[in-house]
Amino acid sequence: MNLAPANDPILEIRHVSRTYKFNGGLMKPAHSVKALQDVSISIERGQTLGLVGESGCGKSTLASIMLGLNKPDSGEVLVDGKPVLSLGPLQRSQLIQPVFQDPYSSLNPAFSVYDTLMQPLRIHRSEAQDRPRRIMDMLDKVGFPRQLANARPGELSGGQCQRVAIARALILNPPLLICDEPTSALDVSVQAQVINLLLDLKREFGLSMVFISHNLAVVEHLADKVCVMYRGQIAEEASREALFANPQHAYTKELLSATLLPV
Ligand SMILES: Nc1ncnc2c1ncn2[C@@H]1O[C@H](COP(=O)(O)OP(=O)(O)OP(=O)(O)O)[C@@H](O)[C@H]1O
Ligand SMILES: [Mg+2]
Repeated sequence: MNLAPANDPILEIRHVSRTYKFNGGLMKPAHSVKALQDVSISIERGQTLGLVGESGCGKSTLASIMLGLNKPDSGEVLVDGKPVLSLGPLQRSQLIQPVFQDPYSSLNPAFSVYDTLMQPLRIHRSEAQDRPRRIMDMLDKVGFPRQLANARPGELSGGQCQRVAIARALILNPPLLICDEPTSALDVSVQAQVINLLLDLKREFGLSMVFISHNLAVVEHLADKVCVMYRGQIAEEASREALFANPQHAYTKELLSATLLPV
């Protein structure tokens, strides 16, 4: 697939707003939640954006809009210069892939690891004779043992499942990965392994990434740029160095000081 010129941003979020409306019922008035209000962010090729903010501030809503799985009320998202909602499912899955929090629920329990990775190759009609080699190479890249290729998700650990989910996200070589708290369901030691794996893969594939997390230490480790969200808006956007050295917004300062408190 031809990508847009190398100096164009890989992802542009332009003035995106999204309100969820709830119909009223018996004794329950109708109401609405402004999940996102005029959010604009852009990500350069090869850059990792860390997206942080308190629970309910709109991070996952924004991720689903980036992925074209949720429609904004206004504004738009461009992936590789093209409106994400104008892309068909095949084109979209070649450009942008998600990695979610719970690897068990994001994998089909009936599919073996091998079949999980075969499915996108089949759908995209990749060269049939190359498929087994591509699957095995990808398993090696994510550090998943080849001898477990016939196992199903129920037979694997959370960390192994997340490696499979990452392998599935990368098998079509997309330039952009959207990771929504990909390590928060994992054991602390496994979290570090998965984060280091993402860092290695980012370097190897020149990937651009959006990394959503509650863990500021992880964001400091991974991100080039950080956006702090607060109540549906971008409270602060800065390079990793600037944000951690000199936070500007009151909420960012609060977030940083909270992480320093002993637990
Ligand atoms: N499908 C939905 N229908 C209605 N309201 C929703 C829906 N998804 C999210 N919301 C509401 O929108 C707001 C933002 O939710 P969102 O899941 O985007 O937050 P978040 O920052 O990802 O939170 P967390 O850190 O807990 O994952 C919340 O008030 C939430 O209740
Ligand atoms: Mg969320």
